[in-house]
Amino acid sequence: MARAPDVHICEVAPRDGLQNLDIFVPTEAKCALIDTIAAAGVREIDAGSFVPPKVVPQFADVDTVMAHALTHRSATIGALVPNVKGAERAIAAGVDVIYFVISASETHNQANVRRTVDEQIEGFRAVRAAIDARPVGQRLQLMGAISTSFGCSLEGEVSEAAVCRVARAFAEARADEIGLADTVGYATPKLIGQIVAAVRREVGPQMTLRLHLHDTLGAGLANAVAGLEAGIRRFDAAVSGLGGCPFAPGARGNIVTEDLVFMLERMGLSTGIDLDRLMQTREILARHIPAKHLSGHLHEAGIPKVLRSAA
Ligand code: COA
Ligand code: ZN
Repeated sequence: MARAPDVHICEVAPRDGLQNLDIFVPTEAKCALIDTIAAAGVREIDAGSFVPPKVVPQFADVDTVMAHALTHRSATIGALVPNVKGAERAIAAGVDVIYFVISASETHNQANVRRTVDEQIEGFRAVRAAIDARPVGQRLQLMGAISTSFGCSLEGEVSEAAVCRVARAFAEARADEIGLADTVGYATPKLIGQIVAAVRREVGPQMTLRLHLHDTLGAGLANAVAGLEAGIRRFDAAVSGLGGCPFAPGARGNIVTEDLVFMLERMGLSTGIDLDRLMQTREILARHIPAKHLSGHLHEAGIPKVLRSAA
C-alpha cells in the first residue's frame, strides 16, 4: 500500500450523511456511493448504523450495505453502534471498526440513545468485553465517539469537565481511539484548541484523537485548521456536506470532504484522495437526494487550476 497520507479522512456520508434524511436512499445507490468513495482512495468509510430500523429506517438495509462495503479492502469499514445489540450485529457483519457513541450532554444522550451517560458508559464496557472475548486477530477496532463535545442544541454550553469525564471513561475502558464530535456545529477554532488540549491532559498523549465537525455556522473548515494546529491528523467529513443528527435539532451537515481535501492539499498536506473521482459522488447523490441537502464550495466553483500546479 502507498505511504500513509499526512491527514487521514474518514468519509461519513453513507452514515451521518443519510441518517437524517426523510427519504430512503435505495440500497444500490448507497453501494454505488461507497464504491465511488473507495475508488477515490478514501481509507476509511463510516458505512452505516446498527440501530433498530424503527428508530432510523434509513439503515434497514445495513447488513447488505456493509457486506458490499467490506468487499473494498483498500478502506477500513466502520459502523456506528449505540448499544451491545448493535455491537453484536456489527461483529457478525465483520466490520473493521465500531464507533460507539456517548454524548457529553446528558440531555442529548437521553434523546439519542434513551440512556443516562453512566448507563451508556456501562454499555461501552460491555462492547469492549465482547470484542476482547474474540480470538486475537479477530478483534475489531473500537472508537469512542463523544457527541456534543463543543455544545448542544438542547442544553447549550457543554462543559469541558463533561467532555473529559466521557473521554476518561473511554480511555479507562480501553477505547482504541477517541472521537470528539461537534454534533451540532457550535465549535469555534478557539474552543477546538481548548477541548482538544483538555482531553489530551485527561487521557494522555498516547491516545489517538479524531475530530468530527459539522458546518452549521460556517466555522467548519476553520475548526479543522484549529484541529490541525492542535495536532489532530484524523478527521471525519461528508461528501456534498451531507449530515445531521435526527436527535439534535438544528444541526446542519458535516464539513464537506471535497472542500477539506482541497484545502489540505493546498496546504501541502497529503490526503491520498483523488479529488476528481471524489467529486463524482455528486452525480449519485443528486439522483436520489433533494438539492437543498447538497452543498460544497468546490462543486459550485469547480476545482481551481492551482491545485494541479501545486501537486
Ligand atoms: N439493532 C437492532 N435492534 C435493536 C438494537 C439494535 N442496535 N437495539 C435494540 N434493539 C431492539 C431490541 O431488541 C428491542 O426489540 P423488541 O422490541 O423486538 O424486543 C427493541 O429494539 C427495543 O430495545 P431497547 O434496548 O429498549 O432500545 P430502546 O428503545 O431503548 O432504544 C437505542 C435504544 C439505543 C436502540 C435507540 O435509542 C437508538 O437506536 N439510538 C441511536 C440513534 C442514532 O442513530 N442517532 C444518530 C447517530 S449519533
Ligand atoms: Zn455528525
